[in-house]
Amino acid sequence: MLATPPLSLYVHLPWCVRKCPYCDFNSHQARGALPFAAYVDALVADLDHDLPLAWGRTVQTVFFGGDTPSLFPADAIDAFLQAASARLRFAPGLEITLETNPGTAEHGRFEHYRAAGVNRISFGVQSFDDGCLQRLGRIHDGAQAAAAIKLAQDAGFDNFNLDLMYALPEQTLAMAERDIERAIALQPAHVSHYQLTLEPNTIFAARPPAGIPDEDASWDMQEHCQALLAEAGFAQYEVSAYARPGRQCAHNLNYWHFGDYLGIGAGAHGKLTLGADQSILRRWKTRHPADYLAKAGSAAAIGGDEAIAPLRRPFDYMLNALRLVDGFALSEFEARTGLARSAIAAELATAVERGWIRIEDDHVAPTELGQRFTNDVISLFLAD
Ligand SMILES: C[S@@+](CC[C@H](N)C(=O)[O-])C[C@H]1O[C@@H](n2cnc3c(N)ncnc32)[C@H](O)[C@@H]1O
Ligand code: SF4
Repeated sequence: MLATPPLSLYVHLPWCVRKCPYCDFNSHQARGALPFAAYVDALVADLDHDLPLAWGRTVQTVFFGGDTPSLFPADAIDAFLQAASARLRFAPGLEITLETNPGTAEHGRFEHYRAAGVNRISFGVQSFDDGCLQRLGRIHDGAQAAAAIKLAQDAGFDNFNLDLMYALPEQTLAMAERDIERAIALQPAHVSHYQLTLEPNTIFAARPPAGIPDEDASWDMQEHCQALLAEAGFAQYEVSAYARPGRQCAHNLNYWHFGDYLGIGAGAHGKLTLGADQSILRRWKTRHPADYLAKAGSAAAIGGDEAIAPLRRPFDYMLNALRLVDGFALSEFEARTGLARSAIAAELATAVERGWIRIEDDHVAPTELGQRFTNDVISLFLAD
């Protein structure tokens, strides 16, 4: 039987100051004044349209993400949060995260976000090295990133994340370590450490920059940086996520535990368990901001609806849960996919045999080898 998992709310704000050459997110370069008020109206209409999928449920986390939500004035964030909390019950003290490009931070902004209810900030720092930042086409330098973080701290945000990338063009192991050391010195609660990937349909994929470290060098960086983070009290809990005790990202944890989420905004994806008909629905919205603005609130704004068929569920579940260092409980697999554990017994046995996972009682966790080859482990669960 499918049980109803916790519900999160993801809100996509689709504009950036400038498109970064490595980025394949649904982000659009802002040209001229942005229609903040109209976009908030569209978000609320979109939420109203999706509400029947989540009647009576409590929102456990909110995440404003995707692009550069910090381009949005605090009153726009406030207006949306007020409208959303009037429509859906918000759990007391729920985590509300706002992604921020350090190049858009300005004095006074963070106080207002805080007053609007935001209680966690995620900074897209990427690196503190000015040469690396330039090669990545970022709009800020290392000093600006540090200054933006200081502004947030002064506004009372101690729960903040720093996104860093490694295996950057021309980056050495010492440079990657230096980035981690500079991040730690700023006392974040959380660090996300992503290996740069060349995503299809990006400028970097079409013309790969020179000097990208190879797989062995990248793995070395990951291991050394992980050790530095561990020494400083940041435990790795997911492939790319490290947190101080109690500071894991509740929103992302809900994704990784195959929880539910409403996806509101241009190109946003949602996943909802519909208990009444024992199905799991994926729904995504039309991607282009102008199109979304014109259609939000009507069926025309829905880019697609797709039921996750039972055969597909093991793969979708593992795609998330096997990223977690602590793994998952088989009882959770059963509740969230509606399948018996016997449906994956053969694949689990193969993964154990290859040394990729260990199983103790109800619990499955990746081994160190499994953590290194996450994609291989996950692909075992692809239905033929
Ligand atoms: C959705 S982005 C939002 C952050 C914000 N827009 C910014 O860039 O400042 C979240 C994070 O994904 C990471 N990311 C984006 N593209 C990536 C790529 N091609 N490879 C690895 N990590 C990437 C970056 O660290 C980025 O901060
Ligand atoms: S990396 Fe961030 S700032 Fe750069 S284009 Fe992508 S979403 Fe926008």
